[in-house]
Amino acid sequence: MRTALLLLVAACGATSSPLASLTPTPIERVSARAEIAVVSVGGITVVFDAAGATVLDDGATVGHIGAPTQQGRALHWTAANVIVGPDGERWIVGLAGEALWRVTSDAQVEHVTQRLGLQGARVLAFDSAGSATIYGLSNGFSSTRDGVHLVHVPGRAAADVAAARDRFAIRRADKIDLVDFSASSHAVVRIADASSMAFIDATTEQAHLLVGTDAGVYLEVQGALRRIAGTAPTQLGAAGPRGWFVADGRVSVVERGSLSRVVGVPSGARVFGAPEGDLWITGSGAPVTTRFEFATSRHDAWTARIRPITMARCRPCHESGGSGGLDLTASTTWRRHEERLRSVLEGGTMPPRGHLLPDSERAELLRWLASADSADPAGNAAD
Ligand code: HEC
Repeated sequence: MRTALLLLVAACGATSSPLASLTPTPIERVSARAEIAVVSVGGITVVFDAAGATVLDDGATVGHIGAPTQQGRALHWTAANVIVGPDGERWIVGLAGEALWRVTSDAQVEHVTQRLGLQGARVLAFDSAGSATIYGLSNGFSSTRDGVHLVHVPGRAAADVAAARDRFAIRRADKIDLVDFSASSHAVVRIADASSMAFIDATTEQAHLLVGTDAGVYLEVQGALRRIAGTAPTQLGAAGPRGWFVADGRVSVVERGSLSRVVGVPSGARVFGAPEGDLWITGSGAPVTTRFEFATSRHDAWTARIRPITMARCRPCHESGGSGGLDLTASTTWRRHEERLRSVLEGGTMPPRGHLLPDSERAELLRWLASADSADPAGNAAD
């Protein structure tokens, strides 16, 4: 049960800080240690540690794989990502021994450096956003915006790269090159001692780069950097609309351009983003990785995830005055009738036969209903 307490919400009112505190809800737990990355495609999730990876299908373990070997030598995973492959499918790809390897849903590993058009290259890093991928190489970088057409830009070694829908970033010793495709422009951001970077809102046209340096954390807006925190982060990343970093034993979240929420994590914890903006966290104890959903309140979570589903699937019969009786377009109805909703959704009696509710959406509704168990006072105050 220790993992349920992994995140401690920063004490409200302990300082005069304007930061809102975060309400982390554990929503998924896997028996694997995440050291390098947690990567998901559809129902498949792969949790990478340096020496191997665990493949899960809908939360159930399909298999464990080691890191690949080259000439009898065991390699180590150093990075992993989802990319769009040349066949248009989304691939889970890991980096080991300066080569790229695809991990398949049946827990097989396949060398794909050639298939990706990078034959002869030593791959140092890669990052992806939607169908855009950049590969940092020992002799420059290669990038693709559609997974098929690869452009190579020769130059010095690129050991850290970041991808967004319309932009790529390449970090060098004292600067970051920002390549913008939509405007076919190229900007250079001068910055000393940068150690990490990631694009927030990477799959949108409004991607912003988050940069960690020895002096703090910076947020880039249209090529200019603004300092948003004064301590050097030990980890930094971005997940959907959120950027996050770990400094002083806390995870801070950057959302809509400002530092909004902070939670504590034990020292030695490893933190990774999920595309929806959730965070996967492995503590320092047992090999368990927990996915946390970050909402200021259950009400926010309802608006973000439940409302769109209920408007599409339930509203035809469940508006006020509708044939279904209950008005399910109001969050208060969902709150007051949690038990009834849970029982019709679990029992499969709603929506009625012939009306669509995909399994993933049913699971989302049930997940929200279950989140009531981890009582959230802020949520109750929201309506
Ligand atoms: C095609 C119309 C239709 C759709 C779509 C529909 N419902 Fe219903 N629902 C009904 C009707 C009619 C009733 C009342 C009669 C009954 O209980 O069978 C009802 C009753 C209910 C009840 C009350 C059950 C009880 O305790 O008596 C719940 C809860 C419910 N629906 C949830 C949902 C949810 C959640 C969705 C969307 C995911 C949904 N319904 C979609 C027609 C619909």
